[in-house]
Amino acid sequence: MCGIMGYVGKNDCVGFLINGLKRLEYRGYDSSGVAAGNSSFTIVKSEGKIENIERILETKPLKGTIGIGHTRWATHGKPNSVNAHPHRTGSTVLVHNGIIENYEPLRAELIEKGYQPVSETDSELFGHLVEERLKQGHAFEEAVRTAFLRLEGSCSIVVVNDKFPDRIVAVKNGTPMVVAHSASSGGSFVASDAQAIIEHTRDVTFLENEDFVVCTKEGFSVHSLKKPLGPGSVIKRDSTVLDWELTSLDKAGYPHYMLKEIHEQPRAILDTLDNLVERETAIPRMEGLRAILQNVRKVQVVACGTAWHAGLVGKYILEQIARLPVEVDLASEYRYREPIVGPDTLFLAITQSGETADTLAALREAKRQGAMTAAICNVRGSSIAREAGFTMFTAAGPEIGVASTKAFTTQILVLMMLGQYAAHSKHIEERGSIDHPKLDLHFFLKLPHLIQGALDTEKKIAAIAKRCIDSPRGFFFLGRGRLYPIALEGALKMKEISYIHAEGYPAGEMKHGPIAMVDAGMTIVVLAPRDGLFDKTISNLQEVKARGGRIVAVGSRGDDQLFKLADEFLEYDFADDFSDVLVATIPLQLLAYHTAVLRGTDVDKPRNLAKSVTVE
Ligand code: G6P
Repeated sequence: MCGIMGYVGKNDCVGFLINGLKRLEYRGYDSSGVAAGNSSFTIVKSEGKIENIERILETKPLKGTIGIGHTRWATHGKPNSVNAHPHRTGSTVLVHNGIIENYEPLRAELIEKGYQPVSETDSELFGHLVEERLKQGHAFEEAVRTAFLRLEGSCSIVVVNDKFPDRIVAVKNGTPMVVAHSASSGGSFVASDAQAIIEHTRDVTFLENEDFVVCTKEGFSVHSLKKPLGPGSVIKRDSTVLDWELTSLDKAGYPHYMLKEIHEQPRAILDTLDNLVERETAIPRMEGLRAILQNVRKVQVVACGTAWHAGLVGKYILEQIARLPVEVDLASEYRYREPIVGPDTLFLAITQSGETADTLAALREAKRQGAMTAAICNVRGSSIAREAGFTMFTAAGPEIGVASTKAFTTQILVLMMLGQYAAHSKHIEERGSIDHPKLDLHFFLKLPHLIQGALDTEKKIAAIAKRCIDSPRGFFFLGRGRLYPIALEGALKMKEISYIHAEGYPAGEMKHGPIAMVDAGMTIVVLAPRDGLFDKTISNLQEVKARGGRIVAVGSRGDDQLFKLADEFLEYDFADDFSDVLVATIPLQLLAYHTAVLRGTDVDKPRNLAKSVTVE
């Protein structure tokens, strides 16, 4: 979704803005722009990539010690240069992230008053509201503050004004925003994500909803949106020192972030283990959950996209290991199905970014209904990490490729640890129902090696991708049991980055409809390790084979039966324990990646998608 970057200080801002916006590209966008100046602001904006802005700047250089920039993911109005941000209305220049829900009545009201919006956006209307107040004699900050109070919906806005070229005024309400001051870069920054400013400082302040911020070159102050600016409005917000390495934001020699992130998985798993498991005792550091687990009778896992698939795996883990009943919902559905939430319900949000609007809204709804809450999240300081009762952090590091990879596997790892912790919690021991495969330290420590083993088959997978690229009817991904969600994730990866139609199915469901689609133009990727469900999966595969489908089988090393049945065979050291979900994920990620590369798509920034979906 949209990305925002602003700087006010001693140095020229344009380079800072462009670099910051590039760090935000992962969020997904279709137009971009910057505004900079020393006394009055000049705007450069364009449809398409940031490179278009850079090309314009080569011929028409822009300078200034204060400026704001934006990448836009279109909601109201087409992605063209008129609708691109920044928007100017009189002396006010602004960028906006989120949706103004009372757009229609506001637009009608402003037109009635004689204002003439030039773009189709909701964002521009805010500028007219500010101008209206400036004309009435309000101070700049007060004009922004009171104009913002007219808005409905969740959004963040950053505003500058020709007449006050020493300050940036910003409001955060819903969509994420961080502020920071950097002595080395001689000024203050505001951005949608700390990644945009990490090269200037690691000491950042995550803003909360209804925070109103004034940034100058000396520093920034945070105020309550609800109070007129003054000593009584000041809010103290603690800063967070991020431990991210700058190199984690680069491609480190890989052609794409996604490939780099796929290969980072053994390290991400180890780092997450270090983060969450006591090495000596192998007990997960989840003390904060002890009281919750003593009272819990039901877990409601809620998430979107890839994180939802992790949640589906989590159901198998928590039910089998901890004997806890688990429901798994898509966040966009949860609130509207009138879920039965009680004080003994644990609501568990799973989210890489911690900012997904639907997941956040579901968390708030569960809290409102009295549930205990927890989250699995990759971003410290994010909204969901702050609002959940207890947060378990994955240590995947920044994930920049839009298609989620290392976040997924580390989320599953945390779910395994949670299962382990819950199984050992007093309540469950008292119930006397522990009869679970032990996820001990040995189990956890073998995971990075198993994943590395799967990564080492990349060349073979790239060759298979070449042979399967011509699959006119698309792909089916099949799995059974806990590998069914992995099949769903494989299909999602294929869709997201290669734009090939792909569906995930439980293998046993094929004959209830989907098999009608199968012929020689269809590739069927099947997850079939030698586990308790192997024979059943083989029967399902025979049915597919009989209809002429091309079979790519992912199975146990040396499985002759599968080798003979399949057109392509990928063999791994599968163990019949929960490690199989992680091992099986790797070839599917790599198959999607190499298929997308062969098709020449924009792997890291696939069309129409956003990394962080901050609108509902
Ligand atoms: C978007 C991303 C997906 C991600 C989903 C949930 O759709 O493109 O990769 O799985 O949001 O994001 P979250 O940050 O909540 O895990």
